[in-house]
Amino acid sequence: MCTPFNCIRAHVTPDGDLLARFRVPLLEAMDNFGALLTYSMPRYLSSFRAFLDSFDVSGHGDLSYGAMVPDSILCESGEDVRVLRIGSGSGEIDSVMLKKLLQRHSSVYIRVVEPSEEMIGRYKSLVREDTGLGAVKFDWRQQTADEYFTTKEETKFHLIHAVHVLYYVKDLHATLRNMWEELADGGYMLIAMESDRSDWGKMVYRLREIFGLGGSSSALFSSPTEIKQWFDEMKIGYVTSEDEVNMNVTACFKEESEPGKLLLDFLVHTPHVSSETDLRAAALEYILQNSSMVEDKIVLKSVNEVMVAFKTCE
Ligand SMILES: C[S@@+](CC[C@H](N)C(=O)[O-])C[C@H]1O[C@@H](n2cnc3c(N)ncnc32)[C@H](O)[C@@H]1O
Repeated sequence: MCTPFNCIRAHVTPDGDLLARFRVPLLEAMDNFGALLTYSMPRYLSSFRAFLDSFDVSGHGDLSYGAMVPDSILCESGEDVRVLRIGSGSGEIDSVMLKKLLQRHSSVYIRVVEPSEEMIGRYKSLVREDTGLGAVKFDWRQQTADEYFTTKEETKFHLIHAVHVLYYVKDLHATLRNMWEELADGGYMLIAMESDRSDWGKMVYRLREIFGLGGSSSALFSSPTEIKQWFDEMKIGYVTSEDEVNMNVTACFKEESEPGKLLLDFLVHTPHVSSETDLRAAALEYILQNSSMVEDKIVLKSVNEVMVAFKTCE
């Protein structure tokens, strides 16, 4: 059978890099490839949940984000530590990071930039229920990063973080520049993304090359490599760390499994992948070739790459 990956393999160079020298698209670009987020927020959220449930650790917060927050953040004495959060989701990771900050600082102000009303709603319930966040002042901005940065702000932040969100911004370099401008001297900028060297990361970037990007509603799938290139061009120093997580993707191979369909949608970032024959076949074939069997489970590796840049005092 000729699946998209098979067909491509026929053109593969001996170095084994499937698409390295492949320039002519084999297949029609798919209109909705990469458009999970903009297609339907409820579908996106259910898929995101299925993705979190596939981890072999309990929840996303376990990826030690607390440890990635610097022990001490320089800020004016008597003032709140100011945090800018781009794309908060429902707040679990923020909660871990804020508690780390509260170990050293008596109060924190956080500006939360998140376009989804539902995510903000969930975040607010988390805050209501968590007494450990009493010393945090929240400033909610229901906006995309692009919308937020259209207004120039005077406020400078000691910590700016964007965890698994920069794939979705319209102009990556403009967003990074704006984030950097809003960072106070002595402040930290933390960005987390799926590594483009992980099994899952490589799949997304290869599928993007095969299926192209659909309309402007698609995620652009910016990668950590692009972020690091930008830091290098701007001569900004940074450190990186990686965290490996196993995902149980067995359900994706069960044609009738609803959690499996949702998980595959998230892995490919495309709504209703199960009804896109070529895309589903390419994704499943890739997963089979790059996963391992652990007991009776098909396990695919995800690697969370975290980059932390420091703004030296001028
Ligand atoms: C994969 S989730 C990550 C949520 C959270 N950071 C986490 O890791 O748990 C991506 C989040 O980014 C938000 N988002 C999507 N596009 C965005 C944009 N252009 N600007 C800011 N946030 C965006 C989504 O609504 C969603 O809450």
